[in-house]
Amino acid sequence: MKRLTVNFDERPCYDIVIDRDFAALKDSFDFRGHRVMIVTDENVKKAVLPLLLSELPFETEVFSFAPGEGSKNLDTVKELYRVLIEKHFTRSDVILALGGGVTGDLAAFAASTYLRGISCVQVPTSLLSMVDSSIGGKTGVDFDEYKNMIGAFYMPKLVYINTSVLDTLPDREYFNGFAEVMKHGLIKSESFYRFLLDNMYEICEKDPGILSEMIEQSLMIKKEVVEQDPLEQGERMLLNFGHTIGHAIERFKGFELLHGECVALGAVAAAHISYQKGLLSMDEFYEIRDMFVPFCLPISTEFLDYEKILENVRSDKKMDGKTLRFVLLKRVGKAVISTDVTDEEIRKALDEINFDEKWED
Ligand SMILES: NC(=O)c1ccc[n+]([C@@H]2O[C@H](COP(=O)([O-])OP(=O)(O)OC[C@H]3O[C@@H](n4cnc5c(N)ncnc54)[C@H](O)[C@@H]3O)[C@@H](O)[C@H]2O)c1
Ligand SMILES: [Zn+2]
Repeated sequence: MKRLTVNFDERPCYDIVIDRDFAALKDSFDFRGHRVMIVTDENVKKAVLPLLLSELPFETEVFSFAPGEGSKNLDTVKELYRVLIEKHFTRSDVILALGGGVTGDLAAFAASTYLRGISCVQVPTSLLSMVDSSIGGKTGVDFDEYKNMIGAFYMPKLVYINTSVLDTLPDREYFNGFAEVMKHGLIKSESFYRFLLDNMYEICEKDPGILSEMIEQSLMIKKEVVEQDPLEQGERMLLNFGHTIGHAIERFKGFELLHGECVALGAVAAAHISYQKGLLSMDEFYEIRDMFVPFCLPISTEFLDYEKILENVRSDKKMDGKTLRFVLLKRVGKAVISTDVTDEEIRKALDEINFDEKWED
């Protein structure tokens, strides 16, 4: 078992436990005297909930919803509030989020607002939620077509990761989460990036030892960043590497590509802009680009409408007033923020990942 402590305002705030089963969950949080509402989606309810319940020696309530981003909205939160009220949940009770990032964001948002805040325990079950969304305290739901528009910063009481549940996660979802792992190496740690390269086979095969090492190292990086900047005023911006163009592609190709796949494309584009600005050599750019391939992540796509992408980039909420703040790489393991990325540089970078016209005579 591995244990990390995340600080907030320089004081210990919550622990992250990484293990291979759920046996230690009941001892990692003092559940005595609290009722527990498990919030989960229908897939995770089938694949993981029985394992969890077999290790909890007390009664729990379960609220489940249809899987997918389409459920991450105020309607689902409202249904959850209703169940909490009908079951007389009080402020001393607990919401346990069991699932991917959709479940974690939605359940923690409900926890942050129900009775002005009740305890939330995160039990992430997708790789993305293990390494990214379950820590850092960002919670929220989508509002109509606006992603993560309604939300709050709200810290969990515990994050409990059972890496064995990744066995039932579909491969595409696994590699989707891996894009964020790779991002952590690229922005903050060359040695972690090398570790990922050296253990490519084991990572793809979900080798238990390497998996737990990878998740721990990846979390250490996110933890360091969110501890320095819990409310996203500076340093936390670096986590946005690959996301400016990534989000723009995601909005453009929404139903075709997963978030992590768009982040991989966005990371390749951002690395190319770094090359254009003389921060990375051409060899470094090609190495970074090709690193995504063995992890089943795309480095090219087709039919990108550059003007639409540029429009999406400009309307990204990470815009600071009128200035676009772009995360670039000075080298592997060292990200920098640039405020002078031009439309022309973005178009050239898109040329590197967009391949439709290149095959025409
Ligand atoms: N709060 C944050 O800081 C933060 C950061 C990044 C992403 N997010 C949010 O996270 C969400 C994406 O998270 P996600 O990719 O985990 O999506 P998700 O929660 O939809 O999970 C992906 C799919 O995998 C299934 N699944 C999850 N665990 C499983 C398991 N162990 N076995 C079988 N199936 C399993 C789910 O049912 C779902 O179909 C987005 O809404 C995004 O906005 C939040
Ligand atoms: Zn992301």
